[in-house]
Amino acid sequence: MAENQVIEKLKRTFDPELIRKDFPILEREVNGKPLVYFDNAATTQKPNVVIDSMRYYYTHENANIHRGLHFLSELATESYENARLKVKEFLNAMSASEIIFVRGVTEGINLIANTFCRAGLLNDGDEIVISHMEHHANIVPWQLLCERKNIKLNVIPISDEGELDMEAFKEMISEKTKLVSIVHTSNSLGTINPVKEIVNIAHSYNVPVLLDGAQAVAHQKVDVQELDCDFYVFSGHKLYGPTGIGVLYGKAELLNSLPPFMGGGDMIRTVTFEKTTFEDIPNKFEAGTPNIAGGIGLAVAIKYLNSFDYDDITSHETNLLNYATKKLLAIDGLRIIGTAAEKASVISFIIDGIHPYDIGTIIDTDGIAIRTGHHCTQPVMKRFNVPATARASFSIYNTLEEVDKLEASLIKVIKMFR
Ligand SMILES: Cc1ncc(COP(=O)(O)O)c(C=O)c1O
Repeated sequence: MAENQVIEKLKRTFDPELIRKDFPILEREVNGKPLVYFDNAATTQKPNVVIDSMRYYYTHENANIHRGLHFLSELATESYENARLKVKEFLNAMSASEIIFVRGVTEGINLIANTFCRAGLLNDGDEIVISHMEHHANIVPWQLLCERKNIKLNVIPISDEGELDMEAFKEMISEKTKLVSIVHTSNSLGTINPVKEIVNIAHSYNVPVLLDGAQAVAHQKVDVQELDCDFYVFSGHKLYGPTGIGVLYGKAELLNSLPPFMGGGDMIRTVTFEKTTFEDIPNKFEAGTPNIAGGIGLAVAIKYLNSFDYDDITSHETNLLNYATKKLLAIDGLRIIGTAAEKASVISFIIDGIHPYDIGTIIDTDGIAIRTGHHCTQPVMKRFNVPATARASFSIYNTLEEVDKLEASLIKVIKMFR
């Protein structure tokens, strides 16, 4: 395949200046200034290899998968199933059948919430544990369930630093708990949660654990067997891959015990008006024509990420985090929300007397993209008593010089307001 050749060429040592050349969008200007892209927690930019692989697929291989015996259909099927194998390797899952392609984290969590309930694993009086720092995608699906059944949502509180209160977690888990669903790395606070410990505690009560890895997979090595989590979800677009494709990993035994999520083509074995039988996993959960190009693009994004050493990625991003933290804290009236000891390269902040929306709008005129708002974590905003925050989130292609530009632009904002 074309992209393999390109990937081969990419094997090299970690150098952000060279990495930047892989991402065509970083060459563009915004408002007459070179783009400084600090909105990576919302979505990452895409390297040429990912863009090219999808173009290659549509140019040379496009056909529907699994259904045709013709050449192109077999080629497309092979590429799509190879993508599944790549994800299996990436997460170190036991089997490719444990990898379900979904649209993203949101769909993955909804799939589990919906099928857990229909499997009879959640009933009146049962409890689910989430935390106060969850993205809405890991709150609302459970609330929708609570409306259907008399299920209680237990919420692990967080400290002023934005860390989970593990003692409270130990107290709230019991034989009534049927699932623990926790974010691996918080998108609004940056906190990296002690997920291995959470899994161990939950398992001592025989409670399965779902981990929301949206903000984790691009920044640290994830090994689902080592974590021993029961489900793990992530979205391709946060990992330099395309939008509209993501992954739900589940232990085979659990996935086998769940009913299908959506019904339609590709997930059935036989259909009659009297009775329909279903395919085995993963197909059982993949009704209809999937995002074939997306799966292929995601696999290439994983290969791209794998062409670097994770230690180099972590060390570069930690360097950016520490440098930016120091610079931002030196700004008069700036407060960082989320100061956990274990933190990913995300900085949420507020500046006294200036609304985050004003900050975001003004620094945009300098070509700097950050996110402002509640980051789909309204309970976190409430916990810290702020309406919104400004958030800068860093990635492999960001540089210390870009952090300097952010600092200068923020100082300009302050001068305008004071
Ligand atoms: C922690 C976390 N969970 C879930 C999501 C939802 O991901 P998606 O919109 O790709 O489904 C996000 C996206 O911002 C996130 O950061």
